[in-house]
Amino acid sequence: MEPTIVRLTSPTTDVIVRCQPFAEILYWGPHLSRFMPEDILTLSRAVPNGRLDVDTPLTLAAESGRGLFGSPGVEGHRDGYDWSPVFTTSEITHQDNQLLILAEDPQAGLQLRSELQLDSASGVLKMRHTLINHHAARYWVNRLALTLPLPERAGEVMAFHGRWIREFQPHRVTLEHGGYLQENRRGRSSHEYFPGMMVGSRGFSEQQGEVWGIHLGWSGNHRLRADVKTDGRRLLQAEALYLPGEQELEGGASLSTPWLYAASSRTGLNALSQQFHRYVRQNILHFPEHKPRPVHLNTWEGIYFDHQPEYIMQMATKSAGLGVERFIIDDGWFRGRDHDRAALGDWYLDEKKYPNGLAPVIEHVKQLGMEFGIWVEPEMINPDSDLFRAHPDWVLGLPGYQQPTGRFQYVLDLCNPQVFEYLLERMNWLLSNHDIDYIKWDMNREIVQPAHLGRASLTAQTEQFYRLLDSLRERFPQVEFESCASGGGRIDYEVLQRCHRFWASDNNDALERQTIQRGMSYFFPPEVMGSHIGNRQCHATERQHSIGFRGLTALFGHMGIELDPVKEGDTEQLGFVRYVALHKSLRPLLHSGDVIRIDHHNPSTQINGVVAPGQERAVILVSQLAMPDHQLPGNLRIPGLRPDARYRITLLDTPPLIHQQQGGHTMRQLPAWMKQPCDVSGEWLAQVGLALPVLDPESAMLIGLEQL
Ligand code: GLA
Repeated sequence: MEPTIVRLTSPTTDVIVRCQPFAEILYWGPHLSRFMPEDILTLSRAVPNGRLDVDTPLTLAAESGRGLFGSPGVEGHRDGYDWSPVFTTSEITHQDNQLLILAEDPQAGLQLRSELQLDSASGVLKMRHTLINHHAARYWVNRLALTLPLPERAGEVMAFHGRWIREFQPHRVTLEHGGYLQENRRGRSSHEYFPGMMVGSRGFSEQQGEVWGIHLGWSGNHRLRADVKTDGRRLLQAEALYLPGEQELEGGASLSTPWLYAASSRTGLNALSQQFHRYVRQNILHFPEHKPRPVHLNTWEGIYFDHQPEYIMQMATKSAGLGVERFIIDDGWFRGRDHDRAALGDWYLDEKKYPNGLAPVIEHVKQLGMEFGIWVEPEMINPDSDLFRAHPDWVLGLPGYQQPTGRFQYVLDLCNPQVFEYLLERMNWLLSNHDIDYIKWDMNREIVQPAHLGRASLTAQTEQFYRLLDSLRERFPQVEFESCASGGGRIDYEVLQRCHRFWASDNNDALERQTIQRGMSYFFPPEVMGSHIGNRQCHATERQHSIGFRGLTALFGHMGIELDPVKEGDTEQLGFVRYVALHKSLRPLLHSGDVIRIDHHNPSTQINGVVAPGQERAVILVSQLAMPDHQLPGNLRIPGLRPDARYRITLLDTPPLIHQQQGGHTMRQLPAWMKQPCDVSGEWLAQVGLALPVLDPESAMLIGLEQL
């Protein structure tokens, strides 16, 4: 029988799969306009001397039984047996851009169901496996991974490291021999290892090079791998990481991997992230209502645990005057929560702080025309809480071991139905008795020895978290949720199916935020990235930044302010008004357009922007992060505009640029285009560009482009 060749196709990306003997991706890359199935003949490999006498296909399950010596896609056993399955395709369903392949190993009693869906609009490929145990006896799954091939020229990995207050830091690793492995065992998507990475031709950049990128939509533990096999072939592998004994399949039971999202580009990272953004906007994000993302005021770094309703109402009044549209009371509103060492779990209003309830504050906020939001951290429990005193056994952990605290708290065992019901009831109370539009859902510690009744339960814990959120969303479909985990510790596409915003970082330092937000922008569009103007002297780093730098940095996300507006002086207040208004005027563009990050020879000059889908407008932020090496900053070349159209260039915001005749500061004279109206073509802007002014470190300027 001739093997079935299936092609999934989109304007940007094609995927070609040979379905027999089991599914092997023969091609994953830019769209091919002239493909014929017989073309694949050119791909039939040599069988080299000195190894097995047969060809060893790199299938979607990378089976070791086919003679692959790398990391297999399925690892498991039935009391020591059936541990090396080899699958043979039994059924192929191909409709539109969706491919479903059923494959069997009757000997091992296993079936593998592989789903591949290529999104025509974005070019993003979505995949998952489901392993089904067809024998009566139990099957233990240690690993279940998705495997994607890469071409030999994919020689460099870009992955992300991070920590609290420093998320999404890209780093690069050369891929030559062996591979790059990333394992996250922290119990949430994590600050440390975002579950995504790119691999590309050496030196790939924002605008150049071939790149292949993946993201595993999963909020628990994961393992990602970019490998060079000893025969030179390369691959990407992604999986949820299972703890010992965590996955046990009774006869007939099944286990699915999380969804893997994959995209490719031959013009660098910009095109890759634009595909991911398009996919997210059209398929993952579900806002309850189609409306602009409201500007926030969050009380956290303004008042912390010091909640006084009268004062909070003053803050709300002040906020409304600044243009704020949603007012959020952060941590500190519930019984006994005077500091971060107590009360998590006791989700009852603190009547000492709020003797008249929350209603007067909420009504006040609403009368000012703002939405109201509140903070919760349902998955947690402090040892110093009524809940813990009543139910010490509700803690997630392994009996017989001392569970360490994190931020003085333990995690609740969500697999315990009593815990689940308690949290559902308390959140239900909160949302049904108060006029709440938005919940900031936090999760402030890592998970150690997660176990339900003694058995590892991290996957189940993660699934119960999803279920809890889903139950609440079903009951309160109008409420929006933010996913926060000490900032950006739980950011991924699976949680984004059920939330509407991410708190990118607890670090509101504009300089740090520039890097964090850039890292996050590879996978997430600006409208889901919470970015706040923080205090002039940042609480996380003690650095001080002008309102201009802070305002412009917060502009390119879902904007907010996080400080006490009552205490701020006039200059700051005027700045808040200015940047909130600027954000609102640009918001339709920022939250729908194509995000670009522009390559610049000086790494401390960071440039990003957004181009309208119809290319008639763009806005570009030039940020100077550190002292540049050269005195002249060179030209800014702006891609993505219509080459044949002419654009009016305007300065939307600049720091007070000092140009003194006597020397002593940065410039004697500004570039001419900054002093007079300037119209040029999109082609000129892309190929030649604009001479940049000399910016001070830790300052930024905003340029607008409007088609004439
Ligand atoms: C976490 C969040 C912060 C804030 C505090 C409250 O650290 O990331 O934004 O909500 O908790 O305790």
